[in-house]
Order: sequence, then structure tokens, then C-alpha cells
Amino acid sequence: MNKKDQNKHFFEKWSKTYDWAPFQFWMRHFQLPALIEIDVSQKGKLLDISCGTGEFLKQLEHNDVHRNLQVYGLDLSPKMLKKAKNKLSSKVNLLEGDVHQLPFKNNTFDYAISTEAFHHYGNQLQALQEMVRVTKKDGKVIIVDINFFLWPIHWLFERFEPGCVKVNNKKEMKILFEQAGLREIRQERSFLFAVMTMGKKK
Ligand SMILES: C[S@@+](CC[C@H](N)C(=O)[O-])C[C@H]1O[C@@H](n2cnc3c(N)ncnc32)[C@H](O)[C@@H]1O
Repeated sequence: MNKKDQNKHFFEKWSKTYDWAPFQFWMRHFQLPALIEIDVSQKGKLLDISCGTGEFLKQLEHNDVHRNLQVYGLDLSPKMLKKAKNKLSSKVNLLEGDVHQLPFKNNTFDYAISTEAFHHYGNQLQALQEMVRVTKKDGKVIIVDINFFLWPIHWLFERFEPGCVKVNNKKEMKILFEQAGLREIRQERSFLFAVMTMGKKK
């Protein structure tokens, strides 16, 4: 099975228990730095790539996101998306799709965000370039992903987590952002075992 099919299979199965409260308590802390980057007082468009069961989008709804922002969520797994649809307002546009071929025109979004998913992408530079392509000039590309700060743990994840491709350290993430042509790159530790990397489109 290729990585895309492995991931689809893995997350279709996990969708049943993904919203388990203790796990989501951890995830809310994990996603927090991305949430802080969003200015809900400005008009714009936001895309949550690999939105899963829509927990990050639900947090945005608590911050009155629909007042100014048009919101989109995309994911590979129909079952994850079904869970998201059941909990989110009909104002959120949910789509099935692959980060490597986003079904949007160039320069569409003010924010392109991915949380807890980048290590599952089969071609990480291509995925990031797609995120940059659909982002407007000066828009923000934000990735929050796992980072255990110890390469043996990353090695174990890459061997044993189904669908895992590569867990990057901070330096590797920064290099990918530079290769994708992003500017004003910032990195911030997120809760215990995650790092946010943010860059603006030139
Ligand atoms: C661990 S979940 C994270 C969900 C959500 N972002 C969160 O923070 O809870 C990873 C998600 O990535 C999605 N995914 C994996 N590979 C993908 C791809 N190539 N394109 C789009 N989504 C993908 C999976 O279907 C899954 O819903």
C-alpha cells in the first residue's frame, strides 16, 4: 500500500475514537499557537488542511470566526470529515482531498494551516509548496507538528506509526519553509511535544 492509502485506511479507522476527550485536551494545547496567529477581526479566507474531525475549526467557531472569515476544511478521510460535518456550522466548507493537489486556485487564502498531520505527507516539500500556492501574498502558512526533540523517538515513529513518513526537527522544518520561498519564518514550541512553524508568502 502506498503512503496515501495507508493514511486513508489508518485515519478512517481512527475516526471512531479520535475525539476521545483526554486526547483532544492534549490536541487543544498542541493547536493553540496556530489559533493565536489568526486575526478574526480581519476579513479573509482560511483553509485547515487535514482538518480531521474538525476540532481546530470548532475552536475557531468559539472565537466567532464566521464574522469575518470564510472557512474551509479539507481531509483525505471521508469518515473524519463526516465527524467534522456533524459538529460544525454549515458555514464551514468541508472537502475531501489530498494536500499534494489542493483543489483551489492560486492566491486564494489568507491562512493555510495544518496541525498534527505534516509527518504523514508523502512528499513534504510538494505539500508545503501546494500550501504556499493557494495562499495570498502576505498570507500565513502555518504548520504545527509533533516534535519530541529526540531523534530516536522520531525514528520509532517513522518505523511504527502507520502512515508516518518523516518527523522533522526544528532545523529541518525551517529548511523546508525556506525552500518553499516563505519569509519571516518563526518557530515556537507548542505544549510538550510539538513545534509551530509559520512563514509569510512573498
Ligand atoms: C492526526 S490527524 C490530525 C487532524 C487535525 N488536524 C487535528 O489537529 O486534530 C491527521 C489527519 O491528516 C489527514 N491526512 C493524512 N494524509 C493526508 C493528505 N495527503 N492530504 C490531506 N489530509 C491528509 C488524515 O486523514 C487525518 O485526518
